[in-house]
Amino acid sequence: MCGIVGYIGQQDSKEILLKGLEKLEYRGYDSAGIAVINDNGVRVFKEKGRIAVLRQIVDQTEQAPVGIGHTRWATHGVPSQVNAHPHQSTSGRFTLVHNGVIENYSIIHREYLQDVELKSETDTEIIVQVIEKFISEGLEIEEAFRKTLTILKGSYALALLDSKDKETIYIAKNKSPLLIGLGDNFNVVASDAMAMLQVTDQYVELMDKEMVILKQHSVTIKNLEGTVIERNPYTAELDASDIEKGTYPHYMLKEIDEQPAVIRKIIQKYQSDDNQLVIDQDILYAMNAADRIYIVAAGTSYHAGLVGKEYIEKMAKIPVEVHVASEFSYNMPLLSEKPLFIFISQSGETADSRGVLVQIKELGYKALTITNVQGSTLSREADYTLLLHAGPEIAVASTKAYTAQIAVLSILAAVTAEAKGLGLDFDLVRELGIVANGMEVLRDAKEEMERIALEYLATTRNCFFIGRAIDFYVGLEGALKLKEISYIQAEGFAGGELKHGTIALIENGTPIIALATQERVNLGIRGNVKEVVARGANPCIISMKGLETEEDRYVLPSVNEMLTPLLSVIPLQLISYYAALHRDCDVDKPRNLAKSVTVE
Ligand code: G6P
Repeated sequence: MCGIVGYIGQQDSKEILLKGLEKLEYRGYDSAGIAVINDNGVRVFKEKGRIAVLRQIVDQTEQAPVGIGHTRWATHGVPSQVNAHPHQSTSGRFTLVHNGVIENYSIIHREYLQDVELKSETDTEIIVQVIEKFISEGLEIEEAFRKTLTILKGSYALALLDSKDKETIYIAKNKSPLLIGLGDNFNVVASDAMAMLQVTDQYVELMDKEMVILKQHSVTIKNLEGTVIERNPYTAELDASDIEKGTYPHYMLKEIDEQPAVIRKIIQKYQSDDNQLVIDQDILYAMNAADRIYIVAAGTSYHAGLVGKEYIEKMAKIPVEVHVASEFSYNMPLLSEKPLFIFISQSGETADSRGVLVQIKELGYKALTITNVQGSTLSREADYTLLLHAGPEIAVASTKAYTAQIAVLSILAAVTAEAKGLGLDFDLVRELGIVANGMEVLRDAKEEMERIALEYLATTRNCFFIGRAIDFYVGLEGALKLKEISYIQAEGFAGGELKHGTIALIENGTPIIALATQERVNLGIRGNVKEVVARGANPCIISMKGLETEEDRYVLPSVNEMLTPLLSVIPLQLISYYAALHRDCDVDKPRNLAKSVTVE
């Protein structure tokens, strides 16, 4: 949710900033801007829309070795040129980019800035104006910056330029992610290491309520009391090819195709030398000590959590509740005596989930985060972490992280079961291997999926996904995928529930995508399909080998019944992809969305 970059060194900063912002576009793409500084002063270029639009207006004639940049997901104020970052103070001396939300911005406005005429509708402008205000009252820049940070409530990652000092970028972080990157003769700052991998793989983590004085040859981290903090850098284990599209037209298609490799990597990462699945002993202890597990997540991760509930309850016999993070914060259920919380989050940064984590830590409960991003906020702040090992997921619509989450949850459930002495009647490693092979088969089914998308979804305005038991959860994810990227109104329903109201929406030709992968409910879901067909619906049944009938449109390779979500979601991802493609939608960057949602 908004991405920021900064560079201070010897080279011209503009291209480095623009390339960095392109890698952060997954965090928002309502507007973009950069500010650069050289002997002639500060120049700001900003525009509504994507980085590609910004590129066209950046004047490349002058070199500038220092600069900051921003890509925005609008919260305060509509997407527009005026609301685009960077924002400047009235005199033009200070220039700022910000990721996050300042909750008390109107109070600060009232208390400190009554006489200041604001140009934008953003909370960010308040920060840069208040810095200028403190300078006018006689403070030095570092003091003014620190004092400003002490009055801000909410989340921020900030980078500030002072036109009177072209040798420093002032940086601060609270709740929003931010890293310092180190180089020879230069230093950088970025919301995500991915943005600056082009120039360095050496990074220093920042903690909340820290500020940094960044110069070409030095990085000084301080807390808000002014104490200097020493911290060693780490090497970002990202491969440049992981963050490129390669020969694929879209990241989403690349990431869908990566799923078999991700499953194999997860098996390998969670296996011991003697091929046993292993989970950290502390996590197993926490699982076994819990009388109830609360899974908290948002979006696609919430859907993975629903499948996880099945696994933990069926295999490890621990009761599980799954909650939408944004609701949990404000409407906490009655908790059991010994709860354990599991946060599922691809990014590890989702503010709604973090809000709950902070609350439950205050109550003294333990938390496990399942995430794709090592060192992310949810990982750092939880007691335990399990990594997804899915590699960077860049398309806004989540695909490989969903299947990775389910695979990791299956391993967690199985190993917990084993630790409790509950035998499983299947070998999970072997079954996950069969799933990975099945996923390979689906890589070759793209033409068929494109045909299905064209046949069912080319012109429809709505679509329903139905399934029973675990298929219902996958249907919810299928519907989310379709609406996210194709803007077709799509809903997932439990097969038996449709007749209790929603069936009123079925008209001649309404597409119904039905999943039939569970033997126990196979007849039931087929009965539900008949009910809607009798009312004119156009059914597309996706079943699994062994359960298929002649009416089925696609038959998945056979896998263990519990693990079918790992496979059955892939046709739904592909159908959504092709529906979006043929409707001329921006597949990787759908309207209004962002991948990392760091506002509540
Ligand atoms: C956003 C994304 C979704 C994602 C959700 C949760 O809304 O657009 O794709 O599922 O956040 O994200 P997380 O990183 O916590 O899994």
